[in-house]
Amino acid sequence: MGIQIAPSILSADFANLESEINRIGNADLVHVDVMDYHFVPNLTLGLPVVEAILNRTELPVDCHLMIDDPDRWAPGYAEVGAASVTFHAEAAAAPIRLAREIRRQGARAGVGLKPATPVEPFEDLLTEIDMLLVMTVEPGFGGQEFLDVCLPKIRRAREMVSRSGLDVWIQIDGGVSKETIERCADAGADVFVAGSAVYGADDAAAAVEDLRTLAADASNLS
Ligand code: DX5
Ligand code: ZN
Repeated sequence: MGIQIAPSILSADFANLESEINRIGNADLVHVDVMDYHFVPNLTLGLPVVEAILNRTELPVDCHLMIDDPDRWAPGYAEVGAASVTFHAEAAAAPIRLAREIRRQGARAGVGLKPATPVEPFEDLLTEIDMLLVMTVEPGFGGQEFLDVCLPKIRRAREMVSRSGLDVWIQIDGGVSKETIERCADAGADVFVAGSAVYGADDAAAAVEDLRTLAADASNLS
């Protein structure tokens, strides 16, 4: 699939979501952060807002669920038409069953890992998922500083995926900017979430394009 840029609307103006999404028409995915005040100490939006977004954009919608009990709630996001649904490994009771349910509903299934969660236990699960999300900040808020300590994990995730021969995307999320994206691309990430770096720019589409170019130039993937 190659390099993909997924702007996070967490840094957009929530009162004007349609026009904010129109600012990033050149993006590959729209990243939507769902937070529940329990898994993370922040609250954003849920299924009704995701449905409204789906009705207003042609871009694939990538739902990042930072919620407790994803086993119960995640399939609903796939059912309404999200292109991908990522739940957190730390929150899921039965990740294989859940990933299969998300796929059954027609979405790509993603597993998210907080910075301190190791990736190795997921090697045998790669056949069950479509994306690994390696968080590069502690989830919960936009605008945090990129955690360099996560880079070796991105590299190990890429090695695992290469060994498997599977087309599992490696997404990174948190602190991605013009200053940090090349390190992540070099380590093997191929889907880049960026909130403040895109929505904080005067020209959001130009920021997407700049990030894409930097990532493509630094990537070792063919
Ligand atoms: C944080 C969210 C991110 C957030 C990233 O927990 O998952 O998607 O929007 O924001 P930046 O790019 O500003 O770190
Ligand atoms: Zn996110």
